[in-house]
This record gives sequence, structure tokens and C-alpha cells, in this order.
Amino acid sequence: MTSTAHPSPDRLRIGLQKSGRLSDDSLHLLDRCGIKIRKHRDRLFQHSENFPLDVLLVRDDDIPELVMDGICDIGIVGTNVLHEKALKRNQQGIDDGIETLHTLNFGGCRLSIAVPEQLEYVDINCLAGKRVATTYPYLLQQFCAEQNVDMKAIMLNGSVEIAPRLGIADAVCDLVSTGATLQANGLREVETVFTSQAVMVKNQHEWPVEKQATAALLERRLEGVLQANESKYIMLHSSKASLEKVIDLLPGVEHPTIVPLEKNNDAVAIHAVCHETVFWNTMEKLKAAGASSILVLPIEKMML
Ligand code: PRP
Ligand code: ZN
Repeated sequence: MTSTAHPSPDRLRIGLQKSGRLSDDSLHLLDRCGIKIRKHRDRLFQHSENFPLDVLLVRDDDIPELVMDGICDIGIVGTNVLHEKALKRNQQGIDDGIETLHTLNFGGCRLSIAVPEQLEYVDINCLAGKRVATTYPYLLQQFCAEQNVDMKAIMLNGSVEIAPRLGIADAVCDLVSTGATLQANGLREVETVFTSQAVMVKNQHEWPVEKQATAALLERRLEGVLQANESKYIMLHSSKASLEKVIDLLPGVEHPTIVPLEKNNDAVAIHAVCHETVFWNTMEKLKAAGASSILVLPIEKMML
């Protein structure tokens, strides 16, 4: 299949991270939406053959600008990168022109300030006047303004964590998820600057109606997947006497189905969609209230 310079007007172009924290989950999400992407790891462009979607695989840092500038229509990116680029544009007096469509439940991490382990740290004032190596100077600057502490941002594009050992910074402001990178570099996390997660964004350019229709279709599927992620199908038995109590305990249930049980007049079966997470703890409470044979099943898709 060859890529065309002028794709048909219904085709939507999405920017995804090529490799990193968000890559697998982003592709998995499209897959859950029933969109098949042919896998060519090294290719910049990938096309779906069963949905009018083209995928551009790039560095996550480039995604906000690609979307803002209309090279991509939509994108999946971490709010860390998104806010950094938006702050940058705002400071240049340009509107970022980007809209968040959905918060996605993956890609969680935080932008934190970390200092060498041996440095005595009492509170944020210890950072006053310090040189802080970072890839996120705008988020750091915003944090400093909020906290009313002056720090000197040292802009680095990679390997931020080695800056203190090289003597070019006193601290770092970098992304942390497991904390392994900091630990491996003898650094201790002391302040959280920003909490990040993946979002789906779109630009505010004028789209042809065909493309708007594609986006609406994707939107509906995405809603279904995201709702189904949280929701579970629950089946259980309950004595008629404790029925009301049991139903009250079901998280996010509006209209349970009550089914009679064969050869048992004292109990019924309850089937329901729980629109909130069913924790073990919820099941234990149900059991204590008189429920039994509790089954919690995943829901793959949902259209209400
Ligand atoms: C971040 C950060 C660290 C690592 C921290 O990089 O720069 O290297 O993740 O993760 P850990 O706490 O689990 O060790 P990332 O993978 O986001 O790369 P990028 O900044 O180049 O996108
Ligand atoms: Zn990155």
C-alpha cells in the first residue's frame, strides 16, 4: 500500500509516540476501538485499512506542536508535554489552539524535582538560587512562580539525571514513574511539580465534514471502550430478605435485573452493569450482606 500526499477528506491523522511510555497503550486503545493498524515498527506512517485513520509515529515531545499546527488532526500525548508546549506558545503570545477530548487511564507519571541524596533537604526554600537541569523549563518556571522560589533552569534535551554528577546542575526536574532512574543516579525526589497522564487532543482547525464524521465515529467508539474499562457485569445470588441491602451495595448500578431461581423461593439472582470499579472489598461487603455466588465479568464494548 502506498501513502498518498493528499489523503481522502474523511481520513483522520493521529500522532502517537513511536516508542516509550505511551506507545503500547496508545496502539492497544486503537485496537480496542476495532481499528486495525498494520505493524511496521520502523515506519513513520501507518494506515488502518478498516477505519479512515492514518497514524504518524513520532517523539512524544513533538506531538502537541504537530497537532497545533495541523500536521496531525488529533494525538495521544502526556499532559506533561502538552502543558509544557502550551505554556511555551502562550509566552510567545500564540494561542495553543488545542482541545483535550479525553483523559485516558494510562501513561501516569510525575514531573518532580530531585536532589543528590547527600544534600540536606528541609523544604522548598533549600532550592532557592539552585541550578535545576530540566527538559521542562516552562513547567518548572510556573512552579517556581507559584511557590515563590527562584531557581535557575538549565535546559537539557536528554540525560537530565546525570547533570548533578557532571557538576552542571545542583538538582534535576524530570519525569518519574517507578523512581528507578533517580535511584540509579543517586537522586532523591523532593517536590512534585506536575502530575501527568495521557490525554487525547485535537486541534481547532476547520475540518472537512467527512473528517468530522470520522472523528465523531472514533469518539463514540472511544467512549464505549473507556466506559467499558471501568464497568463490570456482576452476577450474584441474594436471599429475598437481604435483596434491598445487597442492591444498595452495588457500585454505580441503576437498573438491576432480578431473576427467579429454580426450586428456590427464598433467593433470587441479580444481574447488573456496575458503572464503577468493583473492588474485592465491595464483594466482601456484598457477601456479608447476604449475597453469594458473586461473579464479576469484564465488559468488552458498550453502547448505551
Ligand atoms: C523519563 C525520565 C526518566 C524516566 C523515569 O523518560 O526522563 O528517564 O522516564 O522513569 P522511572 O522513574 O520509571 O525510572 P521518558 O521515558 O519519558 O523519555 P522521554 O523523556 O525521552 O520521553
Ligand atoms: Zn519524550
